[in-house]
Amino acid sequence: MSVKPKVFITRRIPDAGLHLIKESTDAEVWAGQLPPPAAVLRQKVADCDGLVSLLTDAIDAAFLDKAPRLKVVSNFAVGFNNIDVKACTERGICVGNTPGVLTDATADMAFALLITAARRIVEGHEYTLAGKWKTWEPLGHLGQDLTGRTLGVVGMGRIGYALARRCRGGWHMKVLYHDVYKNEKAEQELGATQVDLDTLLRESDFVSLHTDLNEKTRGLIGTEQLKKMKKSAVLINTARGPLVDPKALSAALRDGTIFAAGLDVTDPEPIAANDPLLKLANVVIAPHIASATVQTRDQMAEICAKNLIAGLRGEPLPAWVNPEAAGKRRQ
Ligand code: DGY
Repeated sequence: MSVKPKVFITRRIPDAGLHLIKESTDAEVWAGQLPPPAAVLRQKVADCDGLVSLLTDAIDAAFLDKAPRLKVVSNFAVGFNNIDVKACTERGICVGNTPGVLTDATADMAFALLITAARRIVEGHEYTLAGKWKTWEPLGHLGQDLTGRTLGVVGMGRIGYALARRCRGGWHMKVLYHDVYKNEKAEQELGATQVDLDTLLRESDFVSLHTDLNEKTRGLIGTEQLKKMKKSAVLINTARGPLVDPKALSAALRDGTIFAAGLDVTDPEPIAANDPLLKLANVVIAPHIASATVQTRDQMAEICAKNLIAGLRGEPLPAWVNPEAAGKRRQ
């Protein structure tokens, strides 16, 4: 009887993937609700062949040096800024992620935040709960229209495109985008126009961030960028918290530099209980739940499992972040 590869899974993931992993590996699942502490994770992975990680697990070179047998890191997320991919490649370790399946759920969340922040829905809800609703107010609760306005997408990849499609098709918005790549499909199908970041910030009514977090994009939106936006503008972030300077954002929201913000991601995560953003009425914050639907998380678990198993078998990963590792994979 051949020995099954040893795998550590840093949190319970949906059964759709867990069952597949358990069928072909000797898997241990971290049962805690919080991530395993770094020292525990290092010790768990010391003799593992495979790892299923979450965006809350930092996988860096020092960590990898303590995992001499590791062949594959399968991240249960499309983003992989928690992983030092270069360090994995240098060591012949494959990295997988979960693109595609969470596109619609995330675009839906971006749109939900956009309309919620623009129409001040949470403020209205809290006002009602507090018993402050005394009459219909001609000048009360005024928000921003959506129809025919301009959407600025920063990072016109799959999710940016899916949001733009919703806003163009349903709300007839004009679409601007900023990206290093030209997106022909967005230009042809949505009439989107590629512009520099300053133009996008100046001309958009809604600015939605969909770019990767890396050293070039960290702090992409700070005081200067917020000042370029319209006073009536709404900023949406469903990508990664550190794309936005949180202090600059709370100052801009407090001072009326921009109208409102809708965030599914913060810096840090979770947001500190005393963060000034939490004191503002014109920001809506969700706890990083854009991909949190039953169907999407099942599909993420399935891809994650398939990446892990392919990595262990020496096969190409279905969603392979570092195919350049192919020539030097660990046996
Ligand atoms: C991702 O997949 O990168 C999201 O942030 C969580 O689903």
